[in-house]
Amino acid sequence: MKLAIVGSGYVGLVTGTCFAEVGHQVICVDNDLKKVHQLQDGQIPIYEPGLEELVKKNVAAGRLSFTASIGDAVQQSLVIFIAVPTPPQPDGSVDLSFVEGVAREIAVHIKEYRIVVDKSTVPVKTGEKVAQTINRYNPGADIDVVSNPEFLREGSAVEDLMKPDRIVIGVSSERAVAPMKEIYQPFHAPILVTDLNSAELIKHAANSFLALKISYINAVAAICEASGANVERVADGMGADKRIGRAFLNAGVGYGGSCFPKDISAFIRISRELGYPFHLLEEVEKINANQKERFLKKVREALWILRNKKIGVLGLAFKGNTDDVRSSVAIEIVKQLLAEGAEVRAFDPKAMEKAESLVPGAKMVEKAEEVADGADALLVLTEWTDFKSLPWLAIKKRMLSPLLFDGRNLLNPEEMRSLGFTYTSIGR
Ligand code: UGA
Repeated sequence: MKLAIVGSGYVGLVTGTCFAEVGHQVICVDNDLKKVHQLQDGQIPIYEPGLEELVKKNVAAGRLSFTASIGDAVQQSLVIFIAVPTPPQPDGSVDLSFVEGVAREIAVHIKEYRIVVDKSTVPVKTGEKVAQTINRYNPGADIDVVSNPEFLREGSAVEDLMKPDRIVIGVSSERAVAPMKEIYQPFHAPILVTDLNSAELIKHAANSFLALKISYINAVAAICEASGANVERVADGMGADKRIGRAFLNAGVGYGGSCFPKDISAFIRISRELGYPFHLLEEVEKINANQKERFLKKVREALWILRNKKIGVLGLAFKGNTDDVRSSVAIEIVKQLLAEGAEVRAFDPKAMEKAESLVPGAKMVEKAEEVADGADALLVLTEWTDFKSLPWLAIKKRMLSPLLFDGRNLLNPEEMRSLGFTYTSIGR
């Protein structure tokens, strides 16, 4: 089927590429000409395992192309996906101006039946507004608006998209169902057809529930610390119950990224507007913010004064397997260390370039081991699997004092202690 994806950012690029991979004819649109040219040359602006090869393969096969022209894309494609950013605003609401702008642009080019699909994460009732906008700028346009939220995780986006747990299709008219099912048929996943508002809510409710699981286990971790229990054993025991599940029960310094913090705030905000203040989610946010503070308190308790202390940091991305530093808890912690006068040396396998301008006071080093040189303490802030196999004994020898704070429960406590580290983690 002929498809257009407007917005070649994270979601748009991965979605368009995977659609092409299963045989659809895909045009990806972006208003950033430089990015369009880069993509045409096979340069991928983000790090995502497996993406580069797939883009190159599908461009070469003639199934995937890039353009800056929405007009061409709308003319050539039956289904047009909107995958533009919906950034947070200071009051917790979402800036929908990109979605609105694209809806207007699409509107003026529609000449025959088109399905306009919202892929961006948006508050409930946005689809209705998109339909109204298109009708306002092109009265009588023959369209259906669909909500088709994405559930891909950064770092495993290609795999999540190619092997989805479920596909959610929210429609306002039966007519859009068959073409939407046809698009997803090659993915062999259960398809859930709902109304427009329910589909939009599924996305916010799912992300909020996952964040709730994380805050829940982080609160349990605090009780573990106070009582001498081990949060990992508790999570294993809870997670073995199929109704609960072990996923997203890993305690740590808290959740970050471009999705959870924004989506939870937006869900709280829209719920309040709709007359139901969602106090449970307000607590989820509070626990998450507090988690970072609790971690810093442990560092301060060990080092007393942070001024002029040398602190090594492993991990800057908001989680492993990505170069994304948006709303990264690691970056927030580094900022706080710098504000208290510490000297920070940091390493991340992929995120240093993007982190540099956010924490200009921190020195980025080329090899993980170098963060330990003369360090008073070492902090693990991102769950990169690579960190597990670092030469930890050699690292310890480079440090001034062997204080190791594992903010992601990545390392084995017994092993680290047997190497001579004074090892502290979360809830263990
Ligand atoms: C999240 C959702 O998992 C996706 O399903 C969703 O599609 C996406 O948001 C989105 O809305 O676009 P993502 O932000 O890529 O995906 O990352 P996650 O893997 O969910 O991790 C989010 C944060 O939670 C990270 O900071 C991670 O370190 C933290 N986390 C995750 C924990 O602290 N503990 C856990 O057990 C799991």
